[in-house]
Amino acid sequence: MKAKVTATARYLPERVLTNFDLEKMVDTNNEWIRSRTGIETRHLVSEGEATSDMGTNIAMQLLEKTGKSPEDIDLILVATSTPDYLVCATAALIQNNIGAKNAWGFDIAAACSGFIYAMETGTKMVESGRYKNAIVIGADTMSSIIDYTDRNTCVIFGDGGGGVLLEQSDDEIGILDSILHTDGSGSQYLNVPAGGSAHPASKDTIENRMHYVHQDGKTVFKFAVKNMADVSKQILDQNNLTGDDLKLFIPHQANRRIIDAAAKRCGLAEDKVLININKYGNTTAGTIPIALDEAVETNRLQKGDLLLLAAFGGGFTWGSMLIRWGDA
Ligand code: UT7
Repeated sequence: MKAKVTATARYLPERVLTNFDLEKMVDTNNEWIRSRTGIETRHLVSEGEATSDMGTNIAMQLLEKTGKSPEDIDLILVATSTPDYLVCATAALIQNNIGAKNAWGFDIAAACSGFIYAMETGTKMVESGRYKNAIVIGADTMSSIIDYTDRNTCVIFGDGGGGVLLEQSDDEIGILDSILHTDGSGSQYLNVPAGGSAHPASKDTIENRMHYVHQDGKTVFKFAVKNMADVSKQILDQNNLTGDDLKLFIPHQANRRIIDAAAKRCGLAEDKVLININKYGNTTAGTIPIALDEAVETNRLQKGDLLLLAAFGGGFTWGSMLIRWGDA
């Protein structure tokens, strides 16, 4: 038995922050941001809007698109680095909000690779036959952990999320293969230092701005370029495929230059790569499911097409996933 995607959905908050808005907030400029990252705008939540609100909207869309009732859902997985609360999973809040009283669920913390990690988990649960379906969401409210006085990070990130419904498949359609990696020696280069058990919130942690994302951009960039390209090529090789066999490549959207390097390594023409970083920036676990829903909406995927996903993120975490598309 395989697991297949039977619906996709996305949610982007209404508020838009442009490069020109950022020029007024920190010492940066539109030209630098566009040429170094490919980003032009990003969406931000409104006051009071949290990750579970985005996830609830996404889950409701998935139910509507598949005609399922909340009681039909077996499992809810939420990839996020910005849960509503430290204790109490965002998956539980979404489960309650949509009334999925027969579902259980949990959050997965794998930063920008979170959606691929959650897809792998959901796929194996569905393939086991024990669960008929799983809602898999990737969503992040990065604005809740971004320092808008730090030009190294505030220009890159945005808020948003997306998700899919996974269901059982008994034909060749579905998730075909995946490769996942973790290397915790990279944790020092991208993290939020305080607010967890290592440095609980205190006057000092707040004064030292330790509740915000800290990133050594150059180091992360080097690892991302190498590992996202390698893991994309590796999954093609182990399935005796080349870039020509793919209909679409959806990479994590962290930096246009990282995406271009991975596409080049797989020998992919530009029209086979989905790029929307210009509109949304890096929404962490949200980038891939947002792009997937846009691909479906614009008819870039038809039944039988081969789709490749790949991501790299904090942890370090990285991975790729090969999918034979159905009729979602
Ligand atoms: O999502 C998964 C994990 N994250 C990533 O994959 C992100 C990986 N890293 C990156 O995408 C890039 O490293 C950044 C976009 C974060 C930075 O780009 P860069 O080309 O690596 O720039 P840099 O940090 O080497 O900085 C180059 C120059 C520096 O000035 P000097 O020292 O050369 O005078 C920075 O101070 O650009 C300066 N700079 C800026 N200038 C204007 C850094 N940030 C900005 C800014 N606006 N926002």
